[in-house]
Amino acid sequence: MARDGAVYACQSCGAVQTRWTGQCPACGAWNTLVEELTSRPPGALKLTKPTRRAGLAFEGLDAATPAPPRIVTGVEEWDRVCGGGVVPGSAILVGGDPGVGKSTLLLQVAASAARRGARCAYISGEEAIEQVRSRAQRMGLADAPVKLAAETALRAIVDGLKADPFDLVVIDSIQTLWSDAHEAGPGSVTQVRAAAGELVRLAKKRGLAVILVGHVTKEGAIAGPRVVEHMVDAVFAFEGERGYPFRILRGAKNRFGATDEIGVFEMGDAGLAEVKNPSALFLDTSGERAAGAAVFAGIEGSRPVLVEIQALVAPSAYGTPRRAVVGWDSGRLAMILAVLEARCGLSFGDRDVYLNVAGGLRISEPAADLAAAAALASSAFDVALPQDCVVFGEISLSGEVRPVSRMDSRLKEAAKLGFRRAFGPADPESSALQVTGASRLADAIQRVHDGAWDRS
Ligand code: TYD
Ligand code: MG
Repeated sequence: MARDGAVYACQSCGAVQTRWTGQCPACGAWNTLVEELTSRPPGALKLTKPTRRAGLAFEGLDAATPAPPRIVTGVEEWDRVCGGGVVPGSAILVGGDPGVGKSTLLLQVAASAARRGARCAYISGEEAIEQVRSRAQRMGLADAPVKLAAETALRAIVDGLKADPFDLVVIDSIQTLWSDAHEAGPGSVTQVRAAAGELVRLAKKRGLAVILVGHVTKEGAIAGPRVVEHMVDAVFAFEGERGYPFRILRGAKNRFGATDEIGVFEMGDAGLAEVKNPSALFLDTSGERAAGAAVFAGIEGSRPVLVEIQALVAPSAYGTPRRAVVGWDSGRLAMILAVLEARCGLSFGDRDVYLNVAGGLRISEPAADLAAAAALASSAFDVALPQDCVVFGEISLSGEVRPVSRMDSRLKEAAKLGFRRAFGPADPESSALQVTGASRLADAIQRVHDGAWDRS
């Protein structure tokens, strides 16, 4: 039986139950329910005063609303993902695997903003001040007027932020904070939620921008409490493939900007360098393009990005052929294979299929369908696509090649990088490139087979 005022919070999904159970009824995780006391400390309960005016003050949708002011940090990749800089009074959660470079990124953001005149603080609960400082020195940021502190007590942090006026504060990380108002240990849902709630309130009240760092669990959620994601104004994921130097900041939620925006960085000896032209990074332009490779002209957020899609089709040694995908959706691959089989007579039933997006980028656009199909066909026929050709187009289940958004920007980016041809849906007008159009996938695959690119 629950004690008076006690409830049980799942440490994985944040759902609250009145009874302890071994398995969380909300998310199915085992042994994640932890007792949480809900009774408020004496005196904490405040009754809101009744408002004097009855009813709500409604306004029209067309009333003028000024754009929110922004703290432009000067780290352009960061600012763009934010939607043009950090909004004062907002809270941003930055999640990522341990070691991906969250602390490095946010130290750079804080230092850059501070150099441009913003009052910035960096509060580390994970590293000692000396560690943060020596890292800053190695990154050439020692002269930036950022105020450093190493602290994990929520009360001390909140008091400190109230005492000194700041524009932007980095808290690294939310999981290290603890509040003495709660019994649960640091990193528990109760503590993380309490700390995030308190800091978000402080941000709103003081017009202070708060950036919270959050570690990601094995399942990819920002450690346990999904609840924090609901409290903040923006959630960014900082990602990177092991073995590759570059890192991608991806907007997952943003109340003040687009959510499909990405920022690209490269991790080096002096911290993270901004990558202004990601196509050059993801595309290997030095070597010959082999059979099975197709260059996809994609759009990531607001920018066109060229990236190589590589396919390998090989005879299968086992009864069940293998399908392995890196950087793309495996369900989408299954669909493309089915359409190739049903509409083009290209069978993969006795063959292993591997698909890889080069450089470690993750593509989610359906516009990559034709590039994946062309790469698969190119590998299956062992015929290379032309070196100077980019591919894009969405494939429907009926085997049509559909037009995609922003074809003009895709073509322009390809022309800028020295490509002379494009292979895609029928008739996108372009003066920069020679476009080979196909409205049916079967025609497109025939072209790959015949190497017939000049015939229109
Ligand atoms: P860090 O920012 O501490 O990661 P996180 O806060 O996400 O856990 O970055 C750690 C990694 O970054 C570490 O493996 C070393 C690497 N790194 C560099 O390669 N160059 C640098 O200049 C810095 C500061 C870090
Ligand atoms: Mg860190």
